Amino acid sequence: MHIDKQSPIPIYYQIMEQLKSQIKNGELQPDAPLPSEREYSEQFGISRMTVRQALSNLVNEGFLYRQKGRGTFVSRPKMEQTLQGLTSFTEDMKSRGMVPSSKLVDYELIDSTAELAGILDCEHPSKIHKVIRVRLANDIPMAIEASYIPFDMAGELHDSHFQTSIYEHIEQYNSSPISHAKQELEPSAATQEEAKLLEIKKGAPVLLIKRTTYLQSGIAFEHVKSIYRGDRYTFVHYMDRLK
Ligand code: GLP
Repeated sequence: MHIDKQSPIPIYYQIMEQLKSQIKNGELQPDAPLPSEREYSEQFGISRMTVRQALSNLVNEGFLYRQKGRGTFVSRPKMEQTLQGLTSFTEDMKSRGMVPSSKLVDYELIDSTAELAGILDCEHPSKIHKVIRVRLANDIPMAIEASYIPFDMAGELHDSHFQTSIYEHIEQYNSSPISHAKQELEPSAATQEEAKLLEIKKGAPVLLIKRTTYLQSGIAFEHVKSIYRGDRYTFVHYMDRLK
């Protein structure tokens, strides 16, 4: 790393840019520890405040993460999630060579509310599975999913269903392929509870995704509210120019 003190470019910004390129070209590997603020400031003869500003900005941008009492480390690259195909969490992670897993946070067989029955276009009153899971990739929490599934579309659900792909179970149970979904995306900030489950800070940026998903027959089988970690995901959408 080289710092040019004569340059009109602020020193904190020079540090940021150089660390970013070291992360991008692999010189700094994911989870590698960074030298301390003191070491950087002694090495370049600059104030610790300047180093702190550069590192804090990179933490906020998701390039670095801090662990209390241990120091600052390089983040893993963000996961690119296309918004094109209708896939399950299990399929997404497997296609990336990662191991998907789930932690059940809450399960209840609830009575439909008028709102849920309306969204799912199911009978009211009727029974609906409420399943809240933390979804993990290689044991790292990526998202919290609260799924509402009409009992009639899934039958009894047990622990084994929560640990594996619900989409796979739905397709088998209904002998019908999943075909389409409507999805809404909204930026949000992690609540205390969400932050705890996702192992991030309260108030950290997250993406709220609401999805209603349908079988080929046009029947809705789930309404899901997912909270995705903003520091782990980049959502990519390919577009054709409309004429
Ligand atoms: C994705 C979607 C959810 C869906 C889930 C099913 O994460 N955002 O809406 O419920 O996949 O995943 P799986 O079949 O692995 O349980």
